[in-house]
Amino acid sequence: MMSLQSYVSHADQWEQRATIRSRPRRVVEDDALSYYPVERQPLYAHPTIVDAGSQVQDFILLQSFYKYINDVIIFETEIVNRTALAIAKGRFPFDFPFACRSDAMSVVIDEHYHAYVAMDYLDQVERNTGIAPIEQNKEIELSRAIPRAIAYVPAEYAAGMELLAVAISENTVTAEVAAFSRDATLKRSVKGVMADHLADEGRHSVFWINLVKLYWSQIDENARVALGIGLPYFLKEYLTNELQLEFDRRLIDSLDLPAASRAQIASDMVGAYPITARHPMIVNIRKFLKMAGLLEHEPTRAAIAAYL
Ligand SMILES: [Fe+2]
Ligand SMILES: [Fe+2]
Repeated sequence: MMSLQSYVSHADQWEQRATIRSRPRRVVEDDALSYYPVERQPLYAHPTIVDAGSQVQDFILLQSFYKYINDVIIFETEIVNRTALAIAKGRFPFDFPFACRSDAMSVVIDEHYHAYVAMDYLDQVERNTGIAPIEQNKEIELSRAIPRAIAYVPAEYAAGMELLAVAISENTVTAEVAAFSRDATLKRSVKGVMADHLADEGRHSVFWINLVKLYWSQIDENARVALGIGLPYFLKEYLTNELQLEFDRRLIDSLDLPAASRAQIASDMVGAYPITARHPMIVNIRKFLKMAGLLEHEPTRAAIAAYL
């Protein structure tokens, strides 16, 4: 069993490598490269969109980029930091040692900084292109999935469910940002923003794994069973395409195309974002569950068998 004293703080690493301590501002450059990876937006390759020309295609990538940045800001400020701050301030109903609480505070700083960088960069892009974002989603998948998963478990396990959900999502986001930062079609500054973010998220991912590992080893069997039962419920709510499709529908409607073409594109897009067992998010979730020690717990393993 892991002891409370065995947790090792990342404070030294943070002092030296946190991007807020070490990276310059990223400035958008005036070149022909893209803001968003083509393969992340299936609309881009729709025949009607291709026929409509590169200006329409660029508009779609730009708006998808705006959505991505907006989602990141919601994720950092409303999801991760809600939980990280509760842990840092000792409001989380589990007695984490000081090293965990202070590392959690460094996560709060990083996430707020990421949100700041995202806002700054978004503003630069908007000025540079002269194109404003279309109406943005007010929520991300987690805004719905976390409260729904919490409502599903007995009240005394609500905080534990929230911790697992945030830890899982922090680990999936890391992989997503990594893919982004390697894309050769993207602007250097976009990749720079992503690479900076990734540098911090690598540390966060380890932080959440260790935190859950510690928590999971200390809670009693009833708690583990209840949380294990809640997990697949959370995953089901988390891995949906509803909000992406809602956004895409608004994006299609904003295009300067005949109504019949827009309706056709919209109906073709249903099923454009399949979530299968080979989805990169699921691969990462599985990796997280294993590293955090949850898969050694038979009832939990059985509860999420569909995802393994
Ligand atoms: Fe972040
Ligand atoms: Fe993070």
